[in-house]
Amino acid sequence: MTDEQFTPAASEWVYPDPDAAGSARIRDYEATYARAMEDIEAFWAERAATLDWYEPWGQVLDRSDAPFFRWFSGGKTNIVLNALDRHIDTPRRNKLALIWEGEPGDRQTFSFWELWQETNRYANLLKGLGVGKGDRVTIYMGRTPELMIAMLACVKLGAVHSVVYGGFSEQALADRIDDAQSRVLITSDGAWLRGKVVRLKDIADEAVSKSPVVETVVVARRTGHEVHMEPGRDYWLHDLLAQPHVKTVCETEVMDAEDPLFILYTSGTTGKPKGVLHTHGGYQVYTSTTLSWVFDVRDEDVWWCAADPGWITGHSYIVYAPLILGATSFMYEGAPTYPYPDRWWKLVADYGITILYTAPTAIRGLMRFGEAWPARHDLSSLRLLGSVGEPINPEAWRWYHRHIGGGRCPVMDTWWQTETGGFMIAPVPSVGLKPGSATRPFPGIDVDVVDEEGRTCAANEDGYLVVKQPWPGMLRTVYGDPDRYVDQYWNAYRDQGWYLAGDSARRDEDGYIWVIGRIDDVIKVSGYRLGTAEVESGLVSHAAVAEAAVIGLPDELRGSTIHASCILVDGVAGDASLEQELRNHVRREVGPIAVPSQIVFVEALPKTRSGKIMRRVLKARVQGLPEGDLSTLED
Ligand code: WT7
Repeated sequence: MTDEQFTPAASEWVYPDPDAAGSARIRDYEATYARAMEDIEAFWAERAATLDWYEPWGQVLDRSDAPFFRWFSGGKTNIVLNALDRHIDTPRRNKLALIWEGEPGDRQTFSFWELWQETNRYANLLKGLGVGKGDRVTIYMGRTPELMIAMLACVKLGAVHSVVYGGFSEQALADRIDDAQSRVLITSDGAWLRGKVVRLKDIADEAVSKSPVVETVVVARRTGHEVHMEPGRDYWLHDLLAQPHVKTVCETEVMDAEDPLFILYTSGTTGKPKGVLHTHGGYQVYTSTTLSWVFDVRDEDVWWCAADPGWITGHSYIVYAPLILGATSFMYEGAPTYPYPDRWWKLVADYGITILYTAPTAIRGLMRFGEAWPARHDLSSLRLLGSVGEPINPEAWRWYHRHIGGGRCPVMDTWWQTETGGFMIAPVPSVGLKPGSATRPFPGIDVDVVDEEGRTCAANEDGYLVVKQPWPGMLRTVYGDPDRYVDQYWNAYRDQGWYLAGDSARRDEDGYIWVIGRIDDVIKVSGYRLGTAEVESGLVSHAAVAEAAVIGLPDELRGSTIHASCILVDGVAGDASLEQELRNHVRREVGPIAVPSQIVFVEALPKTRSGKIMRRVLKARVQGLPEGDLSTLED
């Protein structure tokens, strides 16, 4: 048996919808890619010139201190200049920037003008608390407009935000506050989720009791329940906003292109979370270009990135890039299944959402409830769909394409990372799709699949995903730990100067890239290389299985054996005959080598809050070993 037998069928093309392709900004991907690669500096300079700058840059790319690359050196900017300020003198000031719905059904909208004013007021308030250029501010809130405004207000002053996702525990929050040394914490009383209050302020109190560095806590009111307010430390946002010095005009701090913009913590494979640092100049060029080209966002669109602003997806594609493009964004506070499994589909219909961008785990989660739920709603406003976060199994891809996109909407599968700032491998609407492949690198992105020595792998051969040229949206360092930045991303191919993404992948004969998964998610069974995602995809393609997680367990004879944990669809019972059926199914779908030795039926899987299965935890659990750092575990 050869590796080819695991390659997803490369023949399964889904050609772009002629409407989407015909009007796309990039109609000739090949030509655009080739032109960008001829001279990447000229290419990115051209993109940067579409934005406003206080002062132009001197050098596009400074490689002198590699791998600490510098983009647009000498340029003066602030991402808020492009995200808000520049729209205010144009008719766009009256356009909706944000439409928001809370889980209980309350609504709020903000025009660009209103968002600008709110940001100015908030920035003045923070200034009153002593926040200034370079200060780190930690934000721990639910999915509300106040979260977005708090981020923009920090940035306007030149402060650096560190948003901690509202699902993190107090220890995780405390660790992140400590690492960033934030004197100010912004939170809210609570957030709505599945009809219940998540008591954010209580968790924040616990965290602050462990982090003496916090001097001031700003609390937004959302749920209205009773919370403890520590005198001299905690202030209600609405009280602070009511102070006379909180004017609606606030100068935007002029920043160097390479000044820090935000820190965002992401879990490494081991050890404490890494504070990924992004900067003002390159990040805005990169996120706005990628959103504009991949999702072809236009003035009349209603863009819904259903991620949380607390993750990179939300930073880049809820907050910054849509605002820079002057797009209308939609944000929803709560759970997709509350009060019923059609909440999302109702939102699409109610607000005329035109582009929906979400994660495979969410799609599979909603798929479980069947297509009758989306079928109850008019989803004809949709014109493009998107996926991010993990490889999307072809089964989920097709369900999404057929039942949500009505077979009309191309699915833009975007591969990227917290570290990359924006999409790296993704189609544009005019590119032919293959379900399960993130398709082709974005123009200007030099991606390759290589072996340990750095040789380009043959078609359909597994290898390591690397990026061979720097790009403007790349992380600049790991906050406070430059050695870790070098070790983690640049040491593997030190001589060549390539970025190691930490994923394995293969490129097929059409040049399409299939991301298999994290390097540590690759299992070797009897010498054969298997991506956990492939086995999972096989399991999930069986009608009884809603979600599956596969790990490799050590085995004397075969190196590893496959252990699968499956969540079944509502109403199906797991028994020995189903187990046998699933084995047969995987044998058929993926190959004999992929058949799990053990299949267990479970109610839930250990996941990170961004929805990635924590195989490390699952593995420890199955083997009865210590589970290690659980700070990023959901629930
Ligand atoms: C890792 C990065 C980028 C925002 C969300 C995740 C996996 C991400 C895809 C995709 C296959 C994907 C990779 C990557 N990943 N998108 N479209 N296809 N794998 O950001 O938490 O930094 O995780 O997510 O393994 O390395 P992140």
